[in-house]
Amino acid sequence: MQYGHFDAAAREYIITRPDTPAPWANYLGSPAYGAIISNNAGGYSFVKSGAAGRLIRYRFNEQDRPGRYIYLRDDESGDYWSASWQPVGKDLDQYRSVCRHGTGYTIMEADYKDLRSEASYYVPMDADHEVWRLKLTNTGAAARKISVFGFVEFTCESFYEQDQVNLQYTQFITRTYFKDQFILQTINENCLNAVNESRVDTRFFGLAGAPVTSYCGDRAAFLGGYRDYGNPVSVEKGRLDGTLNYNLNPCGALHTALTLKPGESVSLAFLLGQKREAEAQALIARYKDSGLPDQEINDLKTYWHGKLANLKVETPDENFNHMVNTWNAYQCFITFNWSRAASLVYCGQRNGYGYRDTVQDIQGIIHLDPEMALEKLKFMISAQVNHGGALPLVKYNHNPGHENKPEDASYRTETGHPSYRADDALWLFPTVWKYITETGNIALLDEEIPYADSGADTLYKHLDKAIDFSLNHLGIHGLPAGLHADWNDCLRLGANGVSVFVAFQLYYAFEIMIRCARHKGDAATETRMNELKKKFGAIIEERCWDTDRFVRGITERDEVVGKPGDPEASLWLNPQSWSIISGFAPRERGKAVMDLVYRQLNTTYGARLMAPSYRRHAFEGALALLFNPSTKENGGIFLQTQGWLILAEALLGRGGRAFEYYLESCPAAQNPIAQTRLLEPYVYSQFTESVDSPFEGRSHVHWLTGTASTVMVGCVEGILGLRPDINGLRLSPAVPASWKNFTMEKTFRGKKLRIQVQNPQGRESGCRKLTVNGVEMADNYISASVLKADNEIILEM
Ligand code: GLC
Repeated sequence: MQYGHFDAAAREYIITRPDTPAPWANYLGSPAYGAIISNNAGGYSFVKSGAAGRLIRYRFNEQDRPGRYIYLRDDESGDYWSASWQPVGKDLDQYRSVCRHGTGYTIMEADYKDLRSEASYYVPMDADHEVWRLKLTNTGAAARKISVFGFVEFTCESFYEQDQVNLQYTQFITRTYFKDQFILQTINENCLNAVNESRVDTRFFGLAGAPVTSYCGDRAAFLGGYRDYGNPVSVEKGRLDGTLNYNLNPCGALHTALTLKPGESVSLAFLLGQKREAEAQALIARYKDSGLPDQEINDLKTYWHGKLANLKVETPDENFNHMVNTWNAYQCFITFNWSRAASLVYCGQRNGYGYRDTVQDIQGIIHLDPEMALEKLKFMISAQVNHGGALPLVKYNHNPGHENKPEDASYRTETGHPSYRADDALWLFPTVWKYITETGNIALLDEEIPYADSGADTLYKHLDKAIDFSLNHLGIHGLPAGLHADWNDCLRLGANGVSVFVAFQLYYAFEIMIRCARHKGDAATETRMNELKKKFGAIIEERCWDTDRFVRGITERDEVVGKPGDPEASLWLNPQSWSIISGFAPRERGKAVMDLVYRQLNTTYGARLMAPSYRRHAFEGALALLFNPSTKENGGIFLQTQGWLILAEALLGRGGRAFEYYLESCPAAQNPIAQTRLLEPYVYSQFTESVDSPFEGRSHVHWLTGTASTVMVGCVEGILGLRPDINGLRLSPAVPASWKNFTMEKTFRGKKLRIQVQNPQGRESGCRKLTVNGVEMADNYISASVLKADNEIILEM
């Protein structure tokens, strides 16, 4: 069943059936002011933090309520509905609804009984307030008397958790006022003129472009007893009773009564933000100009579409195009901005950036906005500790050079992270390398960057120390210790237990270090890294290979995890795909392990993280056992890993297989089976339930997930084969044989590349001929020095 479709030109997903199997959301705003909105206007807003800066109340696990509601009422008949289908939920035979989620804005259109409404929700560029602009048009032949009500349920205080559970306190610190065109909510207002003025918060909900006919600042008065958002008594009556909140629950509700002649349109705007009275007044005055919202929505489009335009592909597969050109890319920016903070399934309580999460997320935007990536990359590098390990959680107010660390009790209490992860700092290698090769900015290696705790070093030295950290934390058999956990949060291998995934990451790190050392003419480091690579290669060969697969780890009791014949968890995906990504496995062996993966782990919706799921034979540190079989790390399809799988197959040149994996887990390709997948068809999720589940194919944890960036890298470097190095760009597409032609437009180091790939023989990879501006290259490599401002590139596979 299908609930909507993509509009590629507008970069919008258009929901035409509002009764979607789950709330399908969009993100508005920036880290300064964030908002999540569902296709039925549910969701919440926050200043900086979803957990500590919460403005709008939202109840998790209660569908998507409440939200940003606009009610409309026919004042002659008394009939009322909402500008989004819910919360009133009129009969869909009479109520036509279209929701357009775009880049930084969401628009709800509705037609009901000859009245057309269009509600546009957005946060303007660089602003910390939100706008709900409403256009109303009388599409009938008779004049209409219409009442419009805007409603928002404020939190009693900014801390989400306190607001939800500590009512004996939070309900008594807040009240509301009516100020001409807006409801003002104050929190701790008595502190205003006292020493602790910082405890005061004020929020407002205002109306611009129409007079306020009636108002209400008290939720109970607005809704009425034993009613809900779908049938508020005040909307039913057609008037707000002017009650203001003093203790109990605040809200902002404003009403304007309009008359519309046949064909007539009006435009007005509700505004919301955490502002003082004077600022609120000024904003409302500004939005009297009814053209401002169109202009501001256009600014958002210009900003986002401009970024996304840096890579544009036109392949025979529409779903791939939708994702790579717009939606996967947009999701990469959203995760880049928000890390794993607020969503419809998490309030964002974690007080910082997860190290690996964020360093991975950066990879997802490097091909589109390397400079934006660089800023955060440097920030993350400054969260590496002087001994080379990385802070597992980097606080939002991270203060390089002065931070405490997992060795300190204070860090543990503040963050809840008791120790280092084995993999965190190692993610820097692929991410730094991607940035350097995308931009050619090799000089970055010499830039001084502080450490989290004390001192500073060049980036080159930071990388060297990351390797030292791993070398100083070896476990049994001389392999890298699994420490608190590696990439897999659920693997506790014990103090001396070792991780094979980390061994491959380290092997890859040696290789990147060799390339950097070569460019710097640092022969000593190059030699040392080559020796380490050899030494560790030999240990991996001896200890991590069993029969036909790479094992996953070895516990401190010397139990091998993931060996053939184990009743459970006998084959793990990541060591196989990373044996190829790291450059360890030669081609033939790579193909063999990937064939094994295909036979034993692949399913309709992607390959499983491992199989069979744990039920009875888990070792002590296998926390995945806690999950139901085929769920999350317990044999689910953990979608981050699909990106690596796609990349690994593409590196092997097996475009057909890479693309098969791509399609299995591609949200857009699952648009027709939305009722199975549940989540937004334009957004990746964290995982999909697999074969052991009665709900195979159902997906969970939307938007903020590492899946966005790993799949993006799998597409860009893998399938599309855009593989830059320091001096230029190698073109190695790995595509299905059926792709006879496709094009890519890419901005590369400030230059335009128009790439045409021709594949008349139906190959899956390889290059027979490459021309750049009519000149034939020696192979599939384009040296940056031959590029002009604008380039016509033809690759014949
Ligand atoms: C979650 C975590 C991520 C971890 C993954 C696998 O996605 O955010 O850090 O790598 O789970 O356990």
